[in-house]
Amino acid sequence: MALYALGDLHLSFQVNKPMDAFGRVWKRHERKIEKYVNQIVESGDTLVLTGDHSWGRKLPECREDLAFIERLPGRKILLRGNHDMFWDAKKTARLNEEYAGRLFFLQNNFAAYKDYALVGTKGFTFEGPFYLNRRGEIIGWYEEKEVQAKKLVDRETARLRESFRQAEQAGYRKFIMFLHYPPTNILEKESPFTKIAEEYRASAVVYSHCHGESRFGDSIRGEFHGIPYMLVSGDYLNFHPALIVE
Ligand SMILES: [Fe+2]
Ligand SMILES: [Fe+2]
Repeated sequence: MALYALGDLHLSFQVNKPMDAFGRVWKRHERKIEKYVNQIVESGDTLVLTGDHSWGRKLPECREDLAFIERLPGRKILLRGNHDMFWDAKKTARLNEEYAGRLFFLQNNFAAYKDYALVGTKGFTFEGPFYLNRRGEIIGWYEEKEVQAKKLVDRETARLRESFRQAEQAGYRKFIMFLHYPPTNILEKESPFTKIAEEYRASAVVYSHCHGESRFGDSIRGEFHGIPYMLVSGDYLNFHPALIVE
């Protein structure tokens, strides 16, 4: 029995969105997902998929992508990504009813793994635009967008706190925290998300969303204030699920 995570499957079985344009690693990536997840994950394991599951805009356009995920081994827990247009946060209960026993949608709730509570939300972080000088140093950014971003961060921290609150109320004292967005951006050393992780002494923080060599280092990887941070974007891992805990 083990807990694994993998993010950003970016499936498109029903819509025309070839991923090859994003580099070699994305060539027939759905075959890689199928192959590596089947090699690594066993039926008694749990696999958390950290968002950006499907390019479909509405649920009927995502059915085959979700069916593909359903066929992967183990218990599957899904987090919302910024591209998951099919998933209205307020209608999560409806998705959970419909996919009961097949997929679990993690939003304003939590899941259990051994004595850990798996908590999470999409998260958010300001991603620019940043203004650079000739040496590539940041000399400013789009301030209006930063104001908007703060509102989204507030909303997402409230959702994250709700997930922790429910888990704590149910008696859990050990937490693994999942985000789709990285917990910090390129300007930050810490953020409201890292502070919440510290407040609850999360055993790990797992996130994805960062794509391509130039973005993999955008946020924290490794230990920060005693908590391990793990990036699990599909292309970062070449679609091999990462082991979180045994
Ligand atoms: Fe993504
Ligand atoms: Fe994303």
